Amino acid sequence: MVRVLQNKTILLGVTGSIAAYKAAGLASQLTQAGAAVDVVMTRAATQFIGPLTFEALTRRHVVTDVMALLPDSQIWHVAMAKRADIFVIAPATAHTIAKLAHGLADDAVSATALDASRRAPLVIAPAMETGMWEHAATQENIAKLVARGAVIVPPGEGHLASGASGTGRLANADDLIDTIRAVLGRGGDLARRVIVVTAGGTQEPIDPVRVLANHSSGKMGWALAQAARDRGARVILIAGTTSLRVPRGVELMAASSAREMREAVLRAIVDADALVMAAAVADFRPAQTAEQKIKKGNTETLTLELVKNPDILADVARHSSRPAVVIGFAAETQELLVNARAKLESKNLDLIVANPVPSAFGSDIDRATLIERGGAATELPPLTKEDLSEKILDFIAARLKT
Ligand code: PMT
Repeated sequence: MVRVLQNKTILLGVTGSIAAYKAAGLASQLTQAGAAVDVVMTRAATQFIGPLTFEALTRRHVVTDVMALLPDSQIWHVAMAKRADIFVIAPATAHTIAKLAHGLADDAVSATALDASRRAPLVIAPAMETGMWEHAATQENIAKLVARGAVIVPPGEGHLASGASGTGRLANADDLIDTIRAVLGRGGDLARRVIVVTAGGTQEPIDPVRVLANHSSGKMGWALAQAARDRGARVILIAGTTSLRVPRGVELMAASSAREMREAVLRAIVDADALVMAAAVADFRPAQTAEQKIKKGNTETLTLELVKNPDILADVARHSSRPAVVIGFAAETQELLVNARAKLESKNLDLIVANPVPSAFGSDIDRATLIERGGAATELPPLTKEDLSEKILDFIAARLKT
């Protein structure tokens, strides 16, 4: 479950593109994440995928007829438009985009949009052949809709229905859901707040091809960044090594080594309300980085001399721009709580998230204990990193309120 999608009604408009079948996956994922999904389709869309598919996935009636009435004679698409928190059109054809730009309303999707978009934000995910997408008419229509406040999820590049390759593929479901979350989160309890999150593991170069690294996947920091964005915050994500996609609406600063991460953190915390250090930062780095690849030669052993890296959180504690709330993580193989408390004190943190190794690294579920300055410790049940992020952000939101 994704908190920002709970109790939200998402109106999903599906228009006549070969990508219409992908809207079924989107409807299913949104429903599973806790949203109520009302689907409205054009006649052309029903030639690519049947309404029954959407009804089965969402367990809600699907509207395909602009004239359809509810049992009490209300106009169905008007009733849908009224209860929507957001209207997402995916895929949106060039024809539908042109209709929306010009206020035409001769099918169920365009008629619903004309009514819904006055109240609910409009997200449009175009899908079409490259020539249609790049045509001046389509681009002018898109610009018009953006000027009216619509959010466009641009099409991606790749194989198209014609067999050609180019720009025009419907954005992938993860990108669409991320956009929906970001739009729904505007005005949340962290609106106008700036939150800096570090994620992933740092890498310390030994030579041009080798590094000292760790097992952090970046999942924890990513979940925090997305959840903070979902609550309306401006999020600066400082990431070490990870292969994860940058979340929509989140500002990324790449920082590979501990020293780069320190520089990035000290720059980002100016004006920040909170800092959450979920990154696994190397405590040591090689004293020297070889300029050329180290050859194994005939030696059986190789000794690396390591020197201490700066402690980023300790530097933040001394910094004049220390944010109002600073949170660290402690990943430990033994004496978890004792070591976590020591770090809470030495790094002058407001909260430390103590999580045991190896289960914390790379997993989707974390077993964490939250320890506040002053002593209170809360042992949490095993939680997804998304749910754990919400608990951490609840702490930040409460602190910033006071
Ligand atoms: O990325 P995932 O696979 O999802 O895994 C998540 C995680 C296990 C990396 C995360 O939950 C976590 O525990 N991160 C901190 C890991 C760690 O390095 O802990 P530490 O006990 O070594 O450091 C304590 C705190 O000081 C951390 O907030 C760390 O970011 C910070 N630190 C550490 C070293 C350093 N030189 N400067 C720092 O500021």
